[in-house]
Amino acid sequence: MTTTERPDADAERLRDRIAAELARARARTALLTDAVDDDDLTRQHSTLMSPLVWDLAHVGNQEELWLVRDVGGREPVRHDIDDLYDAFKQPRRDRPSLPLLPPAEARAYVRTVRDKVYDLLDCIRFTERPLVADGFAFAMIVQHEQQHDETMLATHQLRAGAPVLDAPPPPEPRARVGGEVLVPAGPFTMGTSTDPWALDNERPAHTVDLPAYAIDAAPVTNGQYREFIAAGGYDEPRWWSEAGWRHRNEADLSAPMHWRRDGDGWAYRRFGRWSPVRDDEPVVHVCWYEAQAYAAWAGKRLPTEAEWEKAARWDPAAGRSRRYPWGDADPGDAHANLGQRHLWPAPVGAYPQGASPLGVHQLIGDVWEWTSSTFRGHPGFTVFPYREYSEVFFGDDHRVLRGGSFGTDRSACRGTFRNWDYPIRRQIFSGFRCARDAGAEECPA
Ligand SMILES: [Fe+2]
Repeated sequence: MTTTERPDADAERLRDRIAAELARARARTALLTDAVDDDDLTRQHSTLMSPLVWDLAHVGNQEELWLVRDVGGREPVRHDIDDLYDAFKQPRRDRPSLPLLPPAEARAYVRTVRDKVYDLLDCIRFTERPLVADGFAFAMIVQHEQQHDETMLATHQLRAGAPVLDAPPPPEPRARVGGEVLVPAGPFTMGTSTDPWALDNERPAHTVDLPAYAIDAAPVTNGQYREFIAAGGYDEPRWWSEAGWRHRNEADLSAPMHWRRDGDGWAYRRFGRWSPVRDDEPVVHVCWYEAQAYAAWAGKRLPTEAEWEKAARWDPAAGRSRRYPWGDADPGDAHANLGQRHLWPAPVGAYPQGASPLGVHQLIGDVWEWTSSTFRGHPGFTVFPYREYSEVFFGDDHRVLRGGSFGTDRSACRGTFRNWDYPIRRQIFSGFRCARDAGAEECPA
């Protein structure tokens, strides 16, 4: 701030930014829910997913709970529906049988809540109270809605029937990218203590010292993954963990989700349209067990979460970690395939401007990348603002995914952002890259 500026100018800028982010999230929610008719909105397209109309009112309900009631101290809009839209009380498979708000009522409800939030935003003072400092609660709600927009996009991918979503294809490759990048041994800063809109599980910043390793310069492609299938990868228990092999048999896995044989090759279904599998795109819709089996077949392993983050953020010349691979600036269109601008991953080499200082490409956007790590709090983790955001998921059940996908909005994706899911899940936009320990002879002394 310059000395001549009004002291509340920063607050005004923050208000404008929050209003713009709220509007952007709502436009995406509207697009995803207006694309289908009422019957489609209320139906469950997969037992893994909620009816879209549940996501819609749940987004409004969280916004009401945190902003209207907690931050604003205002009267409830609809106290009576809190339980219906509580994700912990209502398992996804049960949600279609609940007395949910019908589509018109759900739309009216989220509009009413949003109007109250805009009123609140006009007069809010961004005090030292942690929930409102830097607009955190508003940012949390923006990110929550954007996360549900990605979930709703995954529901669209599972939906049967005529295609309703359309977008231009992602850019073509602009650089030749392949092979591995060697990451020298040494410490780096993982996590953040300064990004004001980072969530509790991204905090605090801490030093992690890693031995040297090599990591793939790009995510594993469909072409590479097809070789694994052609080599009998799905029929060889030796590449799979014990739990992975059991799951492979129980679920009868033989290729990524949404793939089918097409003559000598493969086709995939993307948002209701079939097309031939393109070899230079990152593979998507694979579960952690498949990623782990591929890596073993390739003579490698999945990176740990720390290895992924060091490859993405560490700037050896500056001796610090960046917010994103390309620097500290928010993602632009040339950096990464984010925000549902395109409806599938971009071919490898499409985002040279998004590469990290170490020369690792497409870490942000395209596909969420499975890591070998289970989901834990960083050292010094503190719950904020509620246990159910992260802490209840800590433990051995979930594996961490990093980097966001084409379906992730930029507001819900940072170099420190962490996602987690069960190792059997593949309805999400999940892919991976491989890593391996680096031999001493590879590392300059
Ligand atoms: Fe939610």
